[in-house]
Amino acid sequence: MIRNKIYNTIVIVDASFGDSGKGKIVDYLASDADMVVKYNGGPNSGRTVYTNGKKHIFRLIPSGILHPSTICVMAQGMVIDPLVLKNELQTLAEIGINVKDRLFISDAAHLIMPYHILADSKQEEQAAIGTTKKGIGPAYEDKVARRGIRLGDLRNLQKAENIAARAKSFWRNFIDLDYGSEAYLTMSADVVLPFLTDTSILINQAINLKKKVLFESAQGTLLDIDHGTYPYVTSSSAVAGGACTGAGVGPTRIKKVMGITKAYTTRVGAGPFDTEIDGILAERLREVGNEYGSVTKRPRRVGWLDLPALKYAAEINGLTGLIVTKLDTLSNIGMKNFYIRSEYDADGGKLDSPRLRLVDGWDQQDLSQAKTLADLPDNTLRYLEMIEDEVEVPIYMASVGSDRNQIIPIHNIWE
Ligand code: IMP
Repeated sequence: MIRNKIYNTIVIVDASFGDSGKGKIVDYLASDADMVVKYNGGPNSGRTVYTNGKKHIFRLIPSGILHPSTICVMAQGMVIDPLVLKNELQTLAEIGINVKDRLFISDAAHLIMPYHILADSKQEEQAAIGTTKKGIGPAYEDKVARRGIRLGDLRNLQKAENIAARAKSFWRNFIDLDYGSEAYLTMSADVVLPFLTDTSILINQAINLKKKVLFESAQGTLLDIDHGTYPYVTSSSAVAGGACTGAGVGPTRIKKVMGITKAYTTRVGAGPFDTEIDGILAERLREVGNEYGSVTKRPRRVGWLDLPALKYAAEINGLTGLIVTKLDTLSNIGMKNFYIRSEYDADGGKLDSPRLRLVDGWDQQDLSQAKTLADLPDNTLRYLEMIEDEVEVPIYMASVGSDRNQIIPIHNIWE
């Protein structure tokens, strides 16, 4: 008799507006993973990983590449800027990381063209979303309008040129375009062709062999094209379901979905932000938490943790676990108490509508050396319990600093 199998697959999403410290968590989990797959977005995201005191920022290549035995995949849900990829490959070569037979890129992922980057800036002038201006939106627009160049098209440069000509006749309505695409397409082909394959086959083979496969989302749930704060969103599927469409994996093959959240909230770009704060306190939180965009260096907007928003993210993604990062930042902002947005009052009574509620902080107690839950102050533990109780999802891990080892494991993620 044939039975359904259970696979070793985990999707990691950001449960908020991005920048939750996903890079570090994925890096931590990647040391155990056989394969790390990125399934959406492009060079708009930036993942910062510190190893041996060195800072690495990855925008396209999965940060799992730093672990020598981990296979890294960039799946078809992504949009690729070949120049950014070229730089990342060069950096990896400089630090002695071998990518041969370890990095695979989908031939159905789309190519970001120079006109996409120009159009992104132009569209920002017309309606300010606060995009990263990396050409993401226009590249996905071309994909949906069926005039996008897939990386596999670069195997036939004439074909790619013909598609570019069609796309350019569209974009010429918005921007000045008087240059050819030949040199750019040739350069793109040189960079990407050695890595191209049908990645969905590769990923499904690994899943069938019960390999540990980690799917890494870019951006965040509230920036998702379908479920985020539209129109202030990115142009891809940043939710867990995006792993299925973006990588070609059936929903029944996903075992767990982990949502990462900071212990407070940040947002870059425009759009609603219910718990936002400003003034001196915001500046302090921004400084202490180093809340500046890793790609654009823009100061991030900051605010308190929003539990109803987190609960929404838990439902949309089907979260089976939470990971809470940057608890240490709340020690260092110099406040005895701070706020959360909740649907409940301090006694657990249900409110008519969510409200900000004062919670006991842990003053300036140093969390950075904590290795287990027992090392955390009582009020930090209470804070974590409050999150679990309201969101109704168990916390699997907490993070108390930017280094790889400043992680408190609570439950085993792979089991
Ligand atoms: P785009 O993805 O560049 O089109 O930008 C759309 C929105 O998503 C803007 O508000 C950006 O600031 C935001 N965004 C894009 N990538 C990231 C990210 O990696 N972290 C946080 N916000 C992002």
